[in-house]
Amino acid sequence: MKKDIKTRRDIELLVDRFYKNVRADHLLGPVFDDIAKVNWEKHLRVMYDFWDNTIFFSGTYSGNPMHLHQHLHERFSLNSTHFERWNELFDAVVDELYSGTNALLAKQRAASIAAVIKSKILPNGKSR
Ligand code: HEM
Repeated sequence: MKKDIKTRRDIELLVDRFYKNVRADHLLGPVFDDIAKVNWEKHLRVMYDFWDNTIFFSGTYSGNPMHLHQHLHERFSLNSTHFERWNELFDAVVDELYSGTNALLAKQRAASIAAVIKSKILPNGKSR
């Protein structure tokens, strides 16, 4: 029986594993590494804080992901396939490592935030 996401350390493991898979992915990897040229040390720290805040309401994140993705979209046209892949990879890592209420919450939050970002940047909020 897998355990649930209970601690900051659990979040760090999830985030590390997720972005490792993102970077290895043919569709998403180049968006992060070639287009956005992400500083991984910094980004991973921000994402630990983001997910810590999203799951445990720890007050560790107060940024604005909407602006950032909009800006990214202006430089490189994201489409619904990018979002589908992002959510697929995220859910797969959550399921590989954890199960329980917080694991479910993480997947639900990822899906709803992806839907909000998509509705802001894709024409007419269309999913395709
Ligand atoms: C097509 C899907 C997505 C792509 C290609 C993408 C890409 C990116 C990139 C390139 C950055 C900037 C990293 C940096 O320069 O340090 C970023 C930041 C971020 N992304 Fe995404 N993202 C996607 C979906 C999502 C989703 C669904 C969520 C939420 C669950 C999310 C949450 C965030 C957050 C919180 C940040 C950090 C914002 C900040 O610096 O305050 N992203 N993303």
